[in-house]
Amino acid sequence: MSDASAATAVLKVDAMTKRFGGLTAVRELSMDVPPGALYGLIGPNGAGKTTIFNLLTGVYTPTEGSIHFKGTDVAGRKPYEITKLGVARTFQNIRLFGDMTVLENVMTAHHIRSRQVLLDAVVGTPRHRHEERETRDRAMELLKIFDLDGVANEGATSLPYGNQRRLEIARALATEPSLLLLDEPAAGMNPQESIDLMKLIGWLRDEFKLTILLVEHNMKVVMGICERIQVIDYGKCIALGTPDEIQKNPAVIEAYLGGA
Ligand SMILES: Nc1ncnc2c1ncn2[C@@H]1O[C@H](COP(=O)(O)OP(=O)(O)OP(=O)(O)O)[C@@H](O)[C@H]1O
Ligand SMILES: [Mg+2]
Repeated sequence: MSDASAATAVLKVDAMTKRFGGLTAVRELSMDVPPGALYGLIGPNGAGKTTIFNLLTGVYTPTEGSIHFKGTDVAGRKPYEITKLGVARTFQNIRLFGDMTVLENVMTAHHIRSRQVLLDAVVGTPRHRHEERETRDRAMELLKIFDLDGVANEGATSLPYGNQRRLEIARALATEPSLLLLDEPAAGMNPQESIDLMKLIGWLRDEFKLTILLVEHNMKVVMGICERIQVIDYGKCIALGTPDEIQKNPAVIEAYLGGA
């Protein structure tokens, strides 16, 4: 790759376009996300933010353009391959495994990293038992961080909404990502929960050495923790800069307040 920034960026997207029939949901979008960044992706409803996450995680293949994660072209790869490379996400509409406990939800995600051989699991060899114990311990550590260890054995979807959102983040972390994509993690949370989550996201970034892409409508959260913000409108980037720059940007103000 000739572009020097491709070597340093964790995520580098070049002129990515996604069309659904006649609708262009994402239009020639480029992104350059440095390691350790807390990078906000904002824009009005229907701007294309979730579609961008779906492209980055292999749910969709770009119609045009490229996506490089740590220098590897991942456009069009299968979601599990991209997860294995170190990209994890949460969903705008929570997608926990409803028939599993809180703990099982996190343990299942961790299995993508385990070296288990099917035969070990079926026969129940010592190696398998040892790995299960490690997976369980690791999952409990993650639950502790989110203050969910006390409800480890409860049904995941029986938790209050805010806790389900936090459990989704714990589950994403169980896959040991280096890039974490959060799609509206504060949606449905009360103001205090949102503030606590904002602090937690900053702490997680440092503690787990993560790069974080954050899609969020709560501007207090976005402006409070992101160092760099990219604004999307009708699938196109209309602004990129610091929170200060974004709040003063006329095109951004127009996209949010004007157009009616
Ligand atoms: N699978 C699909 N088929 C057809 N159109 C789609 C598909 N997925 C998304 N779209 C369309 O692409 C556009 C962008 O949708 P997307 O969900 O990415 O927006 P968003 O920015 O996440 O919005 P919100 O803030 O409401 O979550 C919308 O017009 C949407 O209807
Ligand atoms: Mg969305």
